[in-house]
Amino acid sequence: MCGIFAVIGTSNNAPQLTFKGLSDIEYRGYDSWGICFSSDDLFKTIKNIGFLPKTFPEQLSQVSLGHTRWATHGGVTIANAHPHSDCNNELILVHNGIIENYLELKAGLRKHLLKSETDSEIAIHLIEDEYSKSKDLSSSVSKVFSKFDGLNAIVVTNGTKIVACKKGSPLVLGKLTDGYCLASDPNALLPLTDKLIFIEDNQMVVLNDKLTISDLKTKKEIQVKFTKVIWDYASSTLQNYEYFMEKEINEQPKVIETILNNSAVAEKIAKEIKSAFGTYFIGCGTAAYACLAGTYLFSKFAKKHVNFSIGSEFNYIEDYLTPKSLVVAVSQSGETIDTIEPVNAAKAKKCKIVAMTNTLGSTLYRTADYKLLLNAGVEKAVASTKAFIAMLSEMILLTFMVAGKKQAGVEVLKKSALEIKNILKNANLLDELVNKIAKQEHIFCLGRGLSYPVALESALKIKETTYIHAEGYAAGELKHGPLALITKGTPVIVYVPNDETRDSILANAKEVQARGAYVIGVGPDNNPVFDFFFKVKDCGASSVIPHTVFAQVLAYKLALKKGLNPDKPRNLAKSVVVR
Ligand code: AGP
Ligand code: GLU
Repeated sequence: MCGIFAVIGTSNNAPQLTFKGLSDIEYRGYDSWGICFSSDDLFKTIKNIGFLPKTFPEQLSQVSLGHTRWATHGGVTIANAHPHSDCNNELILVHNGIIENYLELKAGLRKHLLKSETDSEIAIHLIEDEYSKSKDLSSSVSKVFSKFDGLNAIVVTNGTKIVACKKGSPLVLGKLTDGYCLASDPNALLPLTDKLIFIEDNQMVVLNDKLTISDLKTKKEIQVKFTKVIWDYASSTLQNYEYFMEKEINEQPKVIETILNNSAVAEKIAKEIKSAFGTYFIGCGTAAYACLAGTYLFSKFAKKHVNFSIGSEFNYIEDYLTPKSLVVAVSQSGETIDTIEPVNAAKAKKCKIVAMTNTLGSTLYRTADYKLLLNAGVEKAVASTKAFIAMLSEMILLTFMVAGKKQAGVEVLKKSALEIKNILKNANLLDELVNKIAKQEHIFCLGRGLSYPVALESALKIKETTYIHAEGYAAGELKHGPLALITKGTPVIVYVPNDETRDSILANAKEVQARGAYVIGVGPDNNPVFDFFFKVKDCGASSVIPHTVFAQVLAYKLALKKGLNPDKPRNLAKSVVVR
């Protein structure tokens, strides 16, 4: 969601660096883009709707601002795309977030010529008013930024200086050999530099020939200290794969292996879970399903009650948190605002916070008391695959650690890694199923117990990559409503592991078959009720992992069959940094 990239230096390649930087964070999701650079004391802006072009015309400039927009206020039009300028095209701005009180602030701008419908544009006109009086860009930007309600990051330039402020939205600074760059994601900076600073909320960065960072409230300067970040470039490129989703699905056995080889932090967190007065797993989307799986795992294998909440709902039910509560926030990006906001509220109540995240240096990572890195490598496809498998693996490991049976957890995880390899080897067995169901409008996924979160995740993957209406249900809920939707030929995926859910889920498969459903069985054993069967060996507590991989491969193949790009689902963004 929204990418900012800005550069200032002594070489003339700022526009090209900006274009490359925006390309590196394309995966975050956007609907339009724009790049502005100063040329002969004038600003030139190139904007368009849709995706970035393959190349960008050579332009010479030492200062440039770029933006990929995920529209929140105003439609997807060229006029609404960022960067935005003041009335005289002397000041330029890119913005990420939502200025919640923009209508109120806009009322004071009657003399200005507004060219877009965005909340963002009012910021540059307010800065214009301040700047015309003081001629001091930093104080003008800081004065205006402090008036904003909401979670925002802005970057502004007058051609000789760049000033940036942030509160809630991510911003990272990188040091170049001859200048500085700023981006909303370290992935845009790491191909250029390994020296980064993660800007904190309510800080202002001023860049010209020197760098200053100051606190927006106290106005005091902050000591500048770059962190050296080690980055595996290969993991962020396509290598020989056609799509990131395919690459990331294939990386999953390795992801599990890495987790098994780095379990020291998990040991510490298992101890915290054991002694906490109450543990709350929170996350959004796919990460929420990993949290839900955690509740089943802990209950069944560690005889321990843990709580679960969707991130965006946790705010409304956290009144009972105490300093003895432990909040485990699960997030691939570590930037999801719906997860970060309740974490901040829990932190204010003095709860201990664990970040289970894939992104070193992310907001969540920096906020947490304990940092459990998923180490899955950069995940670029919008539909999360390897990060989910990493989250499930950590949940399984933590469960068995809390139960005092770590080795049993290691064994089931090893089994599941082997079974993923088998599924990937036999993926072509799914082609017949793909041909059969690709034109269907609805698909249902059913599971009980631990397979319920798998059913939810399967439906989410299918929705995201194929736009087929897919729903996941706890199979017991069928007769309470959803059964009314089953008609002749409706595909219904049923997860039938070798556990206590087996007989009941088979009975549910019978029920949908009696209403004409096309039953797709997934599990270790075939059964006459299945119209199509995909064998997945029993991996005990870890069966959730290969079962999910079946759904990932199916969703990927269905997307290709329908001629869709599985990496870039419509309307979705990789990092959801607005409410
Ligand atoms: C997953 O396929 C989705 N794109 C989405 O649900 C995602 O899991 C969710 O937005 C949470 O993201 P996070 O893990 O980065 O917090
Ligand atoms: N709210 C702004 C807009 O709609 C910024 C959106 C973004 O963060 O991309 O233009």
